[in-house]
Amino acid sequence: MQSVSTQLIDDVFVVVVDNPPVNALSWHVRQGLHDGFGQGLADPAVKAIVLRCAGSTFIAGADITEFGKPPQGPDFNAVLNMIEASDKPVVAAIHGTALGGGLETALVCHYRIAVPSAKLGVPEVKLGLLPGAGGTQRLPRVVGVEAAATMCSLGEPVPAPKAEAMGLVDRMAGENSLAEDAIAYARELIAAGPRPTRERSVTGDIAAIEQLKAANARKWRGFEAPYANLACVEAATHLPFDEGLKFERAEFLKLMGGSQSAAQRYMFFAERQAAKIDGFPKDLPLRDVKKVGVIGAGTMGGGISMNFLAKDIPVTIVEMVQENLDRGVGVIRKNYEASAVKGRFTAEQVEGMMGLLTSSLSLDDLADCDLVIEAVYESMDVKKEVFGKLDTICKPGAILASNTSYLNIDEIAASTSRPQDVVGMHFFSPANVMKLLEVVRGEKTADDVLATAMAVGKKIGKVAVVAGVCHGFIGNRMLSTRQQPAMQLLLEGATPAQIDKVHTDFGMPMGPFQMSDLAGLDIGWHRDPARVESIRDALCAAGRFGQKNRKGFYDYDEKRVGTPSDEALSIIEEFRATSNLSKREISDQEIVERTLYPMVNEGYKILEEGKAQRASDIDVVWIYGYGWPIYRGGPMFWGDLEGTGKIVEALERNGVKVAESLKAKA
Ligand code: 3HC
Repeated sequence: MQSVSTQLIDDVFVVVVDNPPVNALSWHVRQGLHDGFGQGLADPAVKAIVLRCAGSTFIAGADITEFGKPPQGPDFNAVLNMIEASDKPVVAAIHGTALGGGLETALVCHYRIAVPSAKLGVPEVKLGLLPGAGGTQRLPRVVGVEAAATMCSLGEPVPAPKAEAMGLVDRMAGENSLAEDAIAYARELIAAGPRPTRERSVTGDIAAIEQLKAANARKWRGFEAPYANLACVEAATHLPFDEGLKFERAEFLKLMGGSQSAAQRYMFFAERQAAKIDGFPKDLPLRDVKKVGVIGAGTMGGGISMNFLAKDIPVTIVEMVQENLDRGVGVIRKNYEASAVKGRFTAEQVEGMMGLLTSSLSLDDLADCDLVIEAVYESMDVKKEVFGKLDTICKPGAILASNTSYLNIDEIAASTSRPQDVVGMHFFSPANVMKLLEVVRGEKTADDVLATAMAVGKKIGKVAVVAGVCHGFIGNRMLSTRQQPAMQLLLEGATPAQIDKVHTDFGMPMGPFQMSDLAGLDIGWHRDPARVESIRDALCAAGRFGQKNRKGFYDYDEKRVGTPSDEALSIIEEFRATSNLSKREISDQEIVERTLYPMVNEGYKILEEGKAQRASDIDVVWIYGYGWPIYRGGPMFWGDLEGTGKIVEALERNGVKVAESLKAKA
């Protein structure tokens, strides 16, 4: 396989990597670099060397598909050491993204030239890893401890102009003249000669490392990789270069062999796989979406609208009452202004986005929209009425989407004369923040409508997943399987705080009862305080509705920080007294088995019924919609790690009907 070519231009030798789509460092690229540089180094006519890439980007990293497979081709570090030891100056010419092993390759080159649009970074931490080819040792020698620690532990790429200011890029090239500019630069450097990074000294203060840890403590809870990255950068400050490399290698191998990185690498591909619709050609023509209508200016409708406005897509938002419309539009503005204060937008951009928003009290104003998303009250009758009206108002070919989180899309579609144009687009609250979009495929949804809804999701920065019609689709259907046993565990003697802690220790952002309090305990309550048939009825009867009135399973202060509530606990005790159950000690393991295992089981049922295309889609839903910790790879991945045999045994012991496909796997 020939993925590296060379050419001699007068006295400058150019090595070109060409390994689409992202010039990953597959074994044949490493081989090509080894051979190419070997040739250039041996040729006395060569006075300087340029490394550049064909296609859309500089090397975007190691080839992740090779991880975990038997090694093939030359060792990457050996190739890098050979480049760094060159006695002729070597220039990396960077366009697109120089990421991970790509940036590490650029760091062994003695100088770096980049186009203004390029980005440079070490995103390994997002794969549960660290730069394993000297990145943690060479970056601090080029940009200093603070910048290196930040880049390694957060993994965010740096735009080329900033990289130049940091000293990571030595020279800016013209956007369209990188190849020539790099050769001219290399020629200029012949007199200066090589500048091996390993010989430079580390600058800066390690106090920056502790500051990063303090600032990100919450975000990094449960993660191993950010800390391992920082330990390596710190090692660079006190170990000789080769010792530092050894330390880095040992840390890299530890992470590579662990389950967190396995989960995060799996999710990298799972996320990309989710965008694919089985059986659809890649080039299926899509419908144009230039103007969007949103019905409902509440929290959901407003959040949904913000996604489109931020991508310069005009939105018409419709409400029934002027006061609600004004409030909704006001909230959108307030949210954007708050983001502007944080520096995410300029004041001008806020005005630009608000200028794209039209508000209306009439559905008739949606006549020219290409996509209409309904986000009204969750009632089948209300939805049917809205869709019936949209059918008479919207232009032919418009996509009619419902944001319902549970209801049957086919039934909603049947209230129109164009069920082929109806699809579910289920956003997660807050809709302008949460990355998940469940795109619900109805029985009659046209292929191009489904594909367009998925593409729209991608355009507005969501991770979109196809779901089939069933109660609660993928995410909420699985959520409900943990809620019921969690309640039962309360009756048997566990406390809300104990159950929630098991979930938060697992890595979830909140547990079942914290989530119930956030959503509101009175949602779906029959509103008869005399009728107490469940713990939730009992809490509502006592006026405990959740965070909204600062009393639910927990008591809340004015900042909505919850603490265990004696009143709630005695309500639970009283309710238990009406049942035949006696209180017993519940172990954390039992909580895991009874609240998390059923979710895995439900995932298998969803797959059996064809309501998700693939197991990894279910994992994507839980990670991007509900905050399942990415280092545990989603419920399906975690189920395998935990052991399907163990799960089936526990489910059966607890009287849960086990999915046939799960039993078969156990
Ligand atoms: N290895 C293997 N395949 C990769 C890859 C990699 N490093 N990076 C991307 N791909 C594949 C994707 O899976 C996708 O395949 P598909 O078309 O079959 O789905 C294809 O390349 C295109 O990728 P994207 O859809 O992500 O394309 P974008 O243009 O949106 O983004 C990118 C390009 C910014 C380079 C993005 O792909 C990316 O972030 N890649 C990962 C970069 C990374 O993490 N690098 C570090 C790797 S680990 C490492 O280097 C270890 C070292 O320290 C030893």
